[in-house]
Amino acid sequence: MPTIISIASGKGGVGKSIISSNLALQFSRHGHRVVIVDLDIGGANLHILFGVLSPSPTLSDFLERKIDSLNSVVHPLSWAKGLGFIPGTGETLIAGNLLHTKKQRLLRQLHSLDADIVILDCAPGTNYHTLDCFLYADFHITVATPDPTSVIEVYRFIKLAAIRKIITHLSRQLTGEVRHSLTNQDFSTVQEVLEAFGQTGEDQKAEARSILRSFCPYFILNRVTDKAKFSTSSLQQVVSKFLDTELIVLGEIPQDEAVSQAIRHYLPVIDRSPFSPASTALTQTFYALQQRLTHTQPISLTPNGPRLTFPTTLPTSLTHSRTRR
Ligand SMILES: Nc1ncnc2c1ncn2[C@@H]1O[C@H](COP(=O)(O)OP(=O)(O)O)[C@@H](O)[C@H]1O
Ligand SMILES: [Mg+2]
Repeated sequence: MPTIISIASGKGGVGKSIISSNLALQFSRHGHRVVIVDLDIGGANLHILFGVLSPSPTLSDFLERKIDSLNSVVHPLSWAKGLGFIPGTGETLIAGNLLHTKKQRLLRQLHSLDADIVILDCAPGTNYHTLDCFLYADFHITVATPDPTSVIEVYRFIKLAAIRKIITHLSRQLTGEVRHSLTNQDFSTVQEVLEAFGQTGEDQKAEARSILRSFCPYFILNRVTDKAKFSTSSLQQVVSKFLDTELIVLGEIPQDEAVSQAIRHYLPVIDRSPFSPASTALTQTFYALQQRLTHTQPISLTPNGPRLTFPTTLPTSLTHSRTRR
């Protein structure tokens, strides 16, 4: 079964696809079979980064059941052994018209992909489809730029993902009216969730805390310049204080003209300009991630049981989708 890594940000245009494609290429160069899935269906651009301008088939063909197997939607890249991608385009995942059953079928088939590593390049926003895809992975990476709006968005994204994770886990243990009420409640802070589940029993409260501590999302700061800096430790402190979870910083990528040049040549920057500042930082980030993957147990897997299934109804604060870019 492949190891699944999700990359999300809450906001578009911060570098998710750039980071996904470069990390994926590094994994493939280390002998892994890698598939990147472009889940940003409404604003898909991964195929363009790889120079495939009108890809067919796409993820939409799979979602519309024109194609049975997700493996058949993988486009192998002839110039990178072991690396393939699933293009988005077409139907909008973030518009909320993706049926729960379609999403479940997509998530289930991720495990049958012919790959060692699957990278989910998630859609922007805090739509619950995005949160579920992000949480479904074994390892979760968040991305922001030093821009204050981007940092606030990524914090909001991590908070809502943490709330969603607790609700998804604990609501399975509840039934009837209590379950209905808690899964439909509009929580805006993790503390509110802990309180609400705490009222159903002390065990639930303790379990909610342990779910939070096991969350441990990773973080990459992108497009850093001398002027646009941001102290990642302050975000780590806020996440620790208010979400009771550890935010692990994998790396900081500088703003670099070499990235734009590489895009114009339809190549990942680590391929086009391997010694550029961005490539050096991306490679260091890759090694930091690789080390984590080697030494950490996948966190979304239950020890002896199957993967999680998600409730179909959600509080409105979690289903509210945000505009892109
Ligand atoms: N480190 C960087 N240096 C320079 N430009 C960058 C960098 N990272 C991203 N960009 C620019 O930002 C644009 C958006 O990046 P992209 O990965 O498509 O964002 P997202 O997938 O989050 O929407 C890219 O097309 C590129 O021009
Ligand atoms: Mg993208």
